[in-house]
Order: sequence, then C-alpha cells, then structure tokens
Amino acid sequence: MAKKIVAGNWKMNKTYEEALALVSEVVNMVKDEVTGDVRVILFPPALYVSTLRSYVKDAPAISLGVQNIYQKASGAYTGEISAPMVKSLGIQYVLVGHSERREYFDETNEVLAEKVNIALENGLTPVFCCGESLQQRQNEDYKGFVKNQLTESLFHLGPEEIQKVVIAYEPIWAIGTGLTASAEQAQEMHKALRDHLSEKYGSPIASGISILYGGSVGAGNAAELFAGPDVDGGLVGGASLKSRDFTEIIKAR
Ligand code: PGA
Repeated sequence: MAKKIVAGNWKMNKTYEEALALVSEVVNMVKDEVTGDVRVILFPPALYVSTLRSYVKDAPAISLGVQNIYQKASGAYTGEISAPMVKSLGIQYVLVGHSERREYFDETNEVLAEKVNIALENGLTPVFCCGESLQQRQNEDYKGFVKNQLTESLFHLGPEEIQKVVIAYEPIWAIGTGLTASAEQAQEMHKALRDHLSEKYGSPIASGISILYGGSVGAGNAAELFAGPDVDGGLVGGASLKSRDFTEIIKAR
C-alpha cells in the first residue's frame, strides 16, 4: 500500500515572521487534531528550512522539504542549492519538476532526470511533479503526454530506486486557478500513471508508490478528490498557506 501524504507547497510566499507563525499553527493543529498515519510535508522557501526544523521536531507526522535543487553536487552555480546541502541539514524531501519550474525556468524532462538522480544519490526523496496544460488536455492523447514525463525523467531508475520516488500529478490548468480536476478526472489519470509504472516495474512496486493530486485542492474538495483508490494524497499550494484549511485537508486524507 502506498503511503498517504499531504504536502504543502508554500512557493515564494511568507516573510520570515509569517513563516514562523504559519508553521507554529500547523504544528499545533496537526498535533491536536490529526490521527492516523498520514505523512505531512511542508515545502517552505529554502531560506527558512534550517530554522523551521526546530519547530517541527515535536510533531513526528511533519517533515520538511525544499522546492527545488540544482542538478550538480557543488560548484560555481550562483544562487543555487544542492542535494548534499539539503541532506546535511537532515531535510528529507525535494520537489522536482513543478510546472512553474518547467515553465519559468525551462526545466526539461532531461534536466529533471538529473535532479531525480542527484536527489536519490544523496538519500533525498524526490516528489516528482507532472501534468498537462489545458491545450494538451484538449488533445486526445493527454494521458500519453503525462506518461511520457514519467518515462523520460524516471524510467531509467531501477526497481529499488523508483520505490523511493513520490509522484504528484498536477494538471497545469488546475494550479492556482480555482479550477480543480473532478474526482473522476484525477482518478483516471492516477490510474493511468499507476498502470504505466506497473508495465515497467510490475504491479507490487507500482502499488507501493504514492501518487498525489495537486491543483486547487482546498478544505471543501479534498475528501472527494482523495476518495479515488489511486489518489494517495495531495500537493497543496494556496490552501497550505492557511493553517486551518491545510489542517482540514490533512484530516480529509
Ligand atoms: P494550488 O497549487 O493548490 O494553489 O493550485 C498547487 C501546486 O502548485 O502545487
């Protein structure tokens, strides 16, 4: 069975004081209200992760991650952060290939394969994002487009390594737009991706890989979206910036 995960992607939001306030609220609410075995991952701006570690240490359900790493281990890459740096702080998770990185920073499937590799080499868990644009959705083979993102960035991995990856399906047309995929659309794509993983790695491995849904997940629609048998949780943007909404989403998983 795949692990249940609810992740919050803060993107480029929150000043330092605001970030401390938000993490404190989330930690308290999760400690008081969340039971069960859901893993909560917060992806704050990387600048804050070092400080936030001490805030989450009393909430064993909560882990931290960074929103991006560079594909090299070290060197003259001004402004970038590396997988060994993240590892050295004891941070476990990294987002790889968010659609905003693909769009604004030209991250290709090939570069993302390198990021996945360096994350795994350093013991980090990549949360690999994939998803189609509205234009691609209108094309008959929209599922093929997303499956190909997995093929090109993940399918060089061996069976041991692929099990260390988390996948987040985020239709671009649903990110930050208030438009969500319907629960049926989410389940349909999640099943297609799991079948694709199964064809390559076999069903026992595919069924153990967590596939999260992202794109305008909120307190009001989370339970319905998470009900799909292949939907193992969510990657939440806007609603993760509000502690109450985010906690309700965690409870819906
Ligand atoms: P959203 O963002 O929940 O604000 O749509 C999701 C994401 O980009 O991960």
